[in-house]
Order: sequence, then structure tokens, then C-alpha cells
Amino acid sequence: MTESSAFNAFRIHADRDNYRAGVEEMRIDDLSPGEVVVKVAYSSVNFKDALAGTGKGKILRSSPLNGGIDVAGYVVASSDTAFKEGDQVLVTGCGLSETRDGGYAQYARLESKWTIPLPSGLTLREAMILGTAGFTAALSLYRMSQNGQVPEMGPIVVTGATGGVGSLAIDILTRAGFEAHAISGKIEHFDYLISLGAKQCISRKDLYWGQRPLETSRWAGAIDNVGGDMLAGLTRVIHPYGNIASCGLAAAPELATTVMPFILRGMSLIGIASAGTAREIRDAVWQHLANDWKPGHLDRIATREVDLDGLPGVFDRMLGGGSFGRTVVKL
Ligand SMILES: NC(=O)c1ccc[n+]([C@@H]2O[C@H](COP(=O)([O-])OP(=O)(O)OC[C@H]3O[C@@H](n4cnc5c(N)ncnc54)[C@H](OP(=O)(O)O)[C@@H]3O)[C@@H](O)[C@H]2O)c1
Repeated sequence: MTESSAFNAFRIHADRDNYRAGVEEMRIDDLSPGEVVVKVAYSSVNFKDALAGTGKGKILRSSPLNGGIDVAGYVVASSDTAFKEGDQVLVTGCGLSETRDGGYAQYARLESKWTIPLPSGLTLREAMILGTAGFTAALSLYRMSQNGQVPEMGPIVVTGATGGVGSLAIDILTRAGFEAHAISGKIEHFDYLISLGAKQCISRKDLYWGQRPLETSRWAGAIDNVGGDMLAGLTRVIHPYGNIASCGLAAAPELATTVMPFILRGMSLIGIASAGTAREIRDAVWQHLANDWKPGHLDRIATREVDLDGLPGVFDRMLGGGSFGRTVVKL
């Protein structure tokens, strides 16, 4: 590969009145600057990728950019001596597909300060089955644990359970010794959730939270991908000193609750912002993911594999709430 050879990228043009995205040819020199040039092996599809790729969410802060907030591949050249040709590396978040070209391309040029050597215990494909979704689920558990969450306090409930973050959260919690419960809109996938380790599956449609600011507590903690009424309801049913990790807004960004869970039960609401996580926490979370928290069912969670041409179909399905598990993108 020379700097003038052409390769394919899924490129997003987010101009004010002309939003378009699709496969285009480009060259290494066209990529956002960075110290580490990587031949991409895999990327993945996250909710944010679907928002970016369709223009339904304002994700790109510069245009045009290659999509894909996750990337894993082989170093082909590096001006930073910390990396050499052939090294296997990954990046999740850190501005990919927001301020710089992302992982939906046969080549990527990465900033060395955010480039993580593939931890031993993971393959490049496994790293992208995890991707931002797995990193977010593990970061949730990491931050909850720092705030005193232990398995002895009781079960943790996961919302949006069949989604990428949800599926991986159930697997990771189970692997880490917690009892995981699942709330999902897809009763047809309860067997899948049980196979990942969920000890109870609750249909989203059957949930009734009651009317009071505090209701009988049901769970010791929660990992919430949904926001809105779901998150508001959860705040009222968490055991004393439990933690809720707020990861997502698949239903809504609003949160209407009271201070009662905070001042009478000591509940904590923990914000999860995976894209901007500090490097030392990033490294620690990836070490967990490759070792003691490595999900046991990655192949089951990887429900789909697509190439760059297959991306638009995956985006539409995901934004319609219809996807389950993780989609891996093979370059
Ligand atoms: N904070 C961060 O750093 C971070 C990182 C990654 C993702 N996220 C956010 O986390 C959420 C999940 O991301 P993902 O990549 O896992 O997406 P995903 O694979 O599409 O999963 C989302 C899941 O949410 C549930 N859902 C969808 N629409 C819903 C609705 N209207 N009401 C209630 N539940 C609904 C569905 O699960 P069921 O059918 O099983 O209920 C769906 O599978 C997204 O909001 C995403 O933006 C945040």
C-alpha cells in the first residue's frame, strides 16, 4: 500500500442541506492526521454509528468524515516508536466519526495517544464484538464498583437488554459474579438473554413502576440504555446505596424524578461517557474485558457480520429498535 493507492471507505457528508453517505474511494493522504496508520480488520455498529450514518443524529462535528466509532487492525506504519508494523491495535470513541475519520474504511490513521495495543486474551474480531458497546458496559460496572457495588447487595437490572450494550452488560455482570436481570421489549429473545446469563427476563410492556417517589425496592443497581420513563422508574426501585449507570437514551433523553431516592436511599446515578474516558481508565477497562470480565458468549452476541455496503440496512433496523446483539463490520 502506498500513499497514492486507493481504498474504500464509508464516507459521510453532513452538509447543512445535503446529507449523504456511502462507499467512496480515498487515499491515505486524505485521512485525518495521526501517528499510526492501520490496515483495518474489523469495526462494529453502535447506536451512534446509526445516528451518524443516517443523519438522524448530529454526531459529526466536521464534514466529510469516514463513519465508524470503533476500529481494530494491524499497524502498517507509525511515526511513534511505541508502535511498529504488524502490531494489533484498537480504538473506540476518542473522536472517531465525530471530529476525525473513523473505522469504516480499509485504512485508518490514528492518534497514538488513544491507540490501545490489543490486550492479550482478545482477538481483533472479539475486540470489535465488544467495541464501544462492550467498553461502555464494562465502564458502567467499573464505575459502579468504584462506588461500592458488590454482588452481595443483590441483582443488577439491565434495560434495552437485547441491544449491544445490554447483551454485553448481562454477559459481563454474570462473568463478574453479579446476578443479572433483563428488561427487554423483545420477549421472542428471552431465550437468548437467558443463554447470556440473565436470571430473570421482564417484558418492557409489563412494567408498572407505581406512582410514589419511592416504591418497594427491587434491584441493587441498574445499567440503563433507555432513559426517559424507564430511568425515572428505576430511580424509585433501587435498594439503599445502589447505583444506576446511565448509558443511553434509546427511548428518550428526559429524566423526571425526585430527590427522594438520593436523600432517603442514598442511591447514586452515575454518568457514563465512553467516548471521552481518560486513557488510564480506558486501559484498566480493556484489561478487565480481556481477562476477568471477558464475556463468555461473544460468538452468540455477534449476531451479524457485514461489509461496508451492508451498513445502511443495519442502521435503519437499529434506529427502529429492531436489532439485537452486535453487528461486526469486516473490512
Ligand atoms: N454513554 C455512552 O458512552 C454510550 C456508549 C454506547 C451506547 N450508548 C447509548 O446506549 C444506548 C444503547 O446503545 P446500543 O449500541 O446498545 O444500541 P442498540 O444495540 O440499538 O440497543 C438499544 C436497545 O434499546 C432498546 N430500545 C430501543 N428502542 C427503545 C424504546 N423506544 N424504548 C425502550 N427501549 C428501547 C432495545 O432493546 P430491547 O428491545 O431489548 O428492549 C434496543 O435493542 C443508545 O442510546 C446509545 O446511544 C451510550
